[in-house]
Amino acid sequence: AATVAFRGGHQAGIATPAQDRLCFATFDVSPTASRADLAELLTSWTEAAEAMTLGRPVPGDVGDLNTPPDDTGEAVGLTPGRLTVTVGYGPGLFDDRFGLAARRPSALKPLPQLPGENLDPANTGGDLCVQACADDPQVAFHAVRNLRRLGFGTVVPRWMELGFGRTSSTSPQQATPRNLMGFKDGTRNIDATDASLMGAHVWIGEEEPQRWARGGSYLVSRKIRMRLEQWDRDRLGDQQDVFGRFKSTGAPLTGKAETDTPDFAAKDGSSYVIPADSHIRLAAHENNNGLRILRRGYSYTDGIDPQTGDLLGGLFFVAFMKSPDRFVTLQRVLGAHDALNEYIQHIGSGVFAVPPGLAAGQDWGRQLF
Ligand code: HEM
Repeated sequence: AATVAFRGGHQAGIATPAQDRLCFATFDVSPTASRADLAELLTSWTEAAEAMTLGRPVPGDVGDLNTPPDDTGEAVGLTPGRLTVTVGYGPGLFDDRFGLAARRPSALKPLPQLPGENLDPANTGGDLCVQACADDPQVAFHAVRNLRRLGFGTVVPRWMELGFGRTSSTSPQQATPRNLMGFKDGTRNIDATDASLMGAHVWIGEEEPQRWARGGSYLVSRKIRMRLEQWDRDRLGDQQDVFGRFKSTGAPLTGKAETDTPDFAAKDGSSYVIPADSHIRLAAHENNNGLRILRRGYSYTDGIDPQTGDLLGGLFFVAFMKSPDRFVTLQRVLGAHDALNEYIQHIGSGVFAVPPGLAAGQDWGRQLF
């Protein structure tokens, strides 16, 4: 089907099988905006997001010659492309400014400094985030652009990212895509169609004192640059050791098929071992007390570095989890030990509480305030 349901127990765009394209933006609430302005904006965002998800223009007037049209128009005639619009709230939204301190989801705070990062403020943070995913990039961009338009005077855009190739499968029905390093990505991701895994690892549950946030999740974004030129000069054997998987098939180095379970106990002397500093050994739930997250990232490119002529691109990592502590725990290990670090650098970051889905008649403004 070309449309994804907008309302439900959880927001769409998390368990939804990953669409092909992403447009992700964050916003800061303008210094002059009031609590009422913010609530009103979130209500109008709901109405607009729901309409666009159905392939309809932003509600309002498009024919009055004396006012700007309420929809910017570039999605007219395109199919909805399984558009989902997912919103999240950054730590800054819950300071005293908007009287929301008592509503703060308990695990929402800025991420601590992590090893191996060199964050650019121009790609980091935000009071609000909007993740628009669709199979058509113009549909995804149109959604963010129109929410930005409704936000004039209330929110200021902070940064935006376009993703062009999903880097994770989130359901077994999808073939595993490849990331810009040429490796299959998402093989051992959480299967988002598995409600018990999602309940255990992704959705905020009864453990959260803020009842309103239950059924939501936390979104961690990381803009991760890949040193593609260096990577492309690395020999295949080393590339495979970096991940612990075969490049062609995606199988673990201790297996034959992509979905074979990695044998982390295999020792030197077996034909292949999964190296101690390989990405999958360090990231696997078996080696992290069962810790798992739902990855839902996309490849990105910013063109060419004018100074060096190098390609600027990598992974726009997006993951959903019950608590951002999970990301912090994993990244402390990966940032310190992962063989991949020779070829990547984390240059942007965001952490957001994602509210639960909306019931009929509800909107983001009334849900939050
Ligand atoms: C697995 C690529 C960053 C968490 C994988 C796999 C690849 C990959 C190819 C193996 C296939 C799979 O099971 O999906 C990358 C690249 C990254 C990156 C290219 C950076 C540019 C991260 C980060 C995290 C992470 C920042 C979390 C902090 C995981 C996890 C697995 C995984 C949990 C599954 C491991 C397993 O259970 O076998 N990644 N990844 N990755 N990655 Fe990453």
